[in-house]
Amino acid sequence: MHEFLRNLPKVELHLHIEGSLEPELMFALAQRNGIELPYTTVQEAKDAYHFNDLQGFLNLYFQGMSVLRNEEDFYDLAMDYFKRAREEGVVHIDMHFDPQAHLQRGVPLEVVMAGLLKAKQEAEDNLDLSIGMIMAFLRDRPAEEALHVLEQAAPYWKMLDAIGLDSAEQNNPPVKFVEVFKRAKQLGLVRVAHAGEEGPANYIKEALDILDVQRIDHGVRCLESDVLVERLRSEQIVLTVCPLSNVSLKVVEDLRDHPLPKLLAEGLKVTISSDDPAYFGGGMLTNHIACADAFDWDEAVFRQITRNAIEEAFTSPGRREELL
Ligand code: HPA
Ligand code: ZN
Repeated sequence: MHEFLRNLPKVELHLHIEGSLEPELMFALAQRNGIELPYTTVQEAKDAYHFNDLQGFLNLYFQGMSVLRNEEDFYDLAMDYFKRAREEGVVHIDMHFDPQAHLQRGVPLEVVMAGLLKAKQEAEDNLDLSIGMIMAFLRDRPAEEALHVLEQAAPYWKMLDAIGLDSAEQNNPPVKFVEVFKRAKQLGLVRVAHAGEEGPANYIKEALDILDVQRIDHGVRCLESDVLVERLRSEQIVLTVCPLSNVSLKVVEDLRDHPLPKLLAEGLKVTISSDDPAYFGGGMLTNHIACADAFDWDEAVFRQITRNAIEEAFTSPGRREELL
């Protein structure tokens, strides 16, 4: 089974590129940019990656990305992950990135975009890897700021596959971003949002009704509402589930308690992603192997999950045909 999973061409719909920053690269970039880290060794950083909840993780996530300053840092960050993912048999990645987390530190949007777009181009040209771009907004920051960043991103609208919504979910309901998502829709931009990771099932409903999203990132708490489950099933709305993330952030105690088998049994359009692989114990292959071990799934289940992801990936019709 592990060999099958290694060879399976995997499609990742939910990946925060800043969450792919491995401690080794974090140290190298810190040195290159003369930035001091709160760790003295790679091992010390890894030892700090134990979280009680989403906020505990976000604190280290934002701290880690402080080493990203110049275009080449963003390029190195993305290429480092793309190469690793390719070695794990990944063939497509829809990549979230968080402009506000960089703007806040004085890093211009142009620097972030130039580095990430260069890496995307190179991956598509040389690695047989297709890349989707999801510009995400931080939901614990004001909606006005998100709206401003969306306008500021005008030169890049054509290069975006979607906008997203991430960061601290509790007490930051989707409705807070109604104007931002309305504007994005007006611009013809596809919308996705994290919902139902730590937040209640009602946030998933809000994301669908008020933000008109095409995809729900996480969504595992949908099972708390039968009406919502029925809707997700009938509309076949894709859920980008991140098993090892959910264990790391204590959404579930143990992977064997994860609702993934139940979500599948309910006929929902489930996919598997790594979320923040540098922080949550591994990338796509590790997540797949963990599921195989925890749920005893056969090859057909993984084929179905992969087909779901291919159908929903932000890519051209030609590339989708190639992947199917
Ligand atoms: N949830 C919300 N925001 C995030 C995450 C996550 O899992 N990873 C990076 N930003
Ligand atoms: Zn996420």
